[in-house]
Amino acid sequence: MLKIDNLHAEIDGNEILRGLNLEVGEGEIHAIMGPNGSGKSTLSNVLMGHPRYEVTGGSITFRGQDVMELEADERARLGMFLAFQYPSEVPGVSVANFLRTAVNAVREEELSVMEMYKLLQEKMRVMEMDPRFAERYLNEGFSGGEKKRNEILQMLMLEPRLAIMDETDSGLDIDALQVVSKGVNELRGPEFSAVVITHYNRILRYIEPDHVHVMLNGRIVTSGGKELALTLEDKGYDWVRQEFGSVA
Ligand SMILES: Nc1ncnc2c1ncn2[C@@H]1O[C@H](COP(=O)(O)OP(=O)(O)O)[C@@H](O)[C@H]1O
Ligand SMILES: [Mg+2]
Repeated sequence: MLKIDNLHAEIDGNEILRGLNLEVGEGEIHAIMGPNGSGKSTLSNVLMGHPRYEVTGGSITFRGQDVMELEADERARLGMFLAFQYPSEVPGVSVANFLRTAVNAVREEELSVMEMYKLLQEKMRVMEMDPRFAERYLNEGFSGGEKKRNEILQMLMLEPRLAIMDETDSGLDIDALQVVSKGVNELRGPEFSAVVITHYNRILRYIEPDHVHVMLNGRIVTSGGKELALTLEDKGYDWVRQEFGSVA
């Protein structure tokens, strides 16, 4: 599904990703954990093709295709999706309008107004959202939890092949965390892969990862199964720095 090979990327001339390797198979859920500043958000932005970052080396292959030269919207049409750590507010554009535009942008054939309405109702039920929410302006005045729920609603509407979730769990209370996890588990299956980026392992109790990777200084320094998340909880990121700081 996704292969990242020796990826190097910088922002404003500062190298942040320094030779990152990752392979995600079809139907797999990968967790990436790492201390603040290790480059997790940079990785998700670079994967999605954010124009502020400059890729200076390596490759990103998605479903067998080199995506490096593709714009973010082209990557989305191939089935990539990024749930932002800090979703932006867009006053004047309602959630329903935004989702309709987003869904039609990635589909070959547009959905009718009725189909769109039904789809939205169905997915909002999954996310336990009040239907009136759809008429509010995108993220304007939303609580942190509502913004994250809305990101996952968008993901359910778009049905991506690969979801990258950048600390979607940060700032969520347990109720919101469960709903967000439910949204991800809803898509779970042989056609869906996810990269769940997180600082804490709390969300991994609800979304069980197949693989866990630890990121430090712009690289993945160690990988393992879900037990690695428990080791991290026990030993903390100081252990990672001591153990892997010299290689990173
Ligand atoms: N515009 C910038 N110029 C220089 N350094 C930056 C810039 N933006 C981010 N960084 C640095 O890149 C590093 C990685 O940031 P980020 O990807 O947000 O990490 P994480 O998401 O793991 O906390 C941090 O040390 C941060 O200070
Ligand atoms: Mg981040």
